[in-house]
Amino acid sequence: MTAPLLERQLVFVTGKGGAGKTTIAAALGLLGADRGRRTIVVEIGGQRRAPALLTASGRLTETDTSADNRGGRKEIRLGERLWSISIDPDSAMIEWLRAVTGRAPARVLSASSTFRYFAAAAPGAKELITMVKLLDLCERYEMVVMDGPASGHALAMLRSPQTFSTIARVGPLAGRSNLVRGLLSDPARSAYVAVAQGSEMAITETLELEDGLRRALDRDLDAVIVNGVLPRRFTREEMARLAKLADEDTAVGTAVAAARAIYRRGRTQQSQIDRLRRQRLSDGAPPHVLPLPLHYSEMNVEILLQMAKRLGRSI
Ligand SMILES: Nc1ncnc2c1ncn2[C@@H]1O[C@H](COP(=O)(O)OP(=O)(O)OP(=O)(O)O)[C@@H](O)[C@H]1O
Ligand SMILES: [Mg+2]
Repeated sequence: MTAPLLERQLVFVTGKGGAGKTTIAAALGLLGADRGRRTIVVEIGGQRRAPALLTASGRLTETDTSADNRGGRKEIRLGERLWSISIDPDSAMIEWLRAVTGRAPARVLSASSTFRYFAAAAPGAKELITMVKLLDLCERYEMVVMDGPASGHALAMLRSPQTFSTIARVGPLAGRSNLVRGLLSDPARSAYVAVAQGSEMAITETLELEDGLRRALDRDLDAVIVNGVLPRRFTREEMARLAKLADEDTAVGTAVAAARAIYRRGRTQQSQIDRLRRQRLSDGAPPHVLPLPLHYSEMNVEILLQMAKRLGRSI
């Protein structure tokens, strides 16, 4: 059974590099907290952008930097029901190795040869340990928004329980691995959100991502957010009139050329959004294709709140 996206325990955000994953994850975090759920936004790979993004205007104040520091976690409280955390997969793996090797000195484990040996001997282990951390958070929060890595790496992460089960069927990680797999494949508990720009290549890659997700977990993307969509400022007729104006007066030619370029890009975006909708409809995927406009000012919590409001109306 599927549940409304915002009622799931895990919302996993992925997409091409630079498409707006962190921005959308932050907006979804605001939305979850606004809907009354204890929400945490998770970043990985040492990134820690969410706290600054979500506290910039002072509307949300960072109130507690040591809410829970068990096992190296640092959950930062950003608001009444909103937290953030950054997981570093390398440290997560060292932490896990220390636990299973009876607390061998971190300096030995983090020595690159030991580390590389383990990583090579256990493909998918680092990704799986990161996913286990996510599962831990799902057990302690009502909504976990994962600011995931770019599509290829995200799929490797999502496949890690399967990858790992081929090398280890027993042991402490195997049990948690099965629970991760259960979480990731259950449409009542997890959701997948892709963020894409409205170019032909980005939309093609999004459809490929959805294909990969089906093969890995038999799941569809629950929503695709087409980010940075240009506003439609001119109709086709207005563009034709502008072009005539440019012919008559070369001084306005440059401005008209700029307007025409934006008009064309907007049309491309629109036709790519339509293509994505048609393809997903014919694949029987959920209908959520949500365009979000391009903002011209620097990203801040006010814009994120606008984005959250818009997303909240459609998902
Ligand atoms: N709708 C938007 N309008 C204007 N700027 C945006 C919009 N969405 C995101 N941005 C900006 O685009 C840049 C990239 O966004 P973001 O960092 O969220 O992408 P990302 O997918 O997380 O990137 P990475 O792959 O590097 O993690 C940021 O500067 C962000 O502020
Ligand atoms: Mg990011």
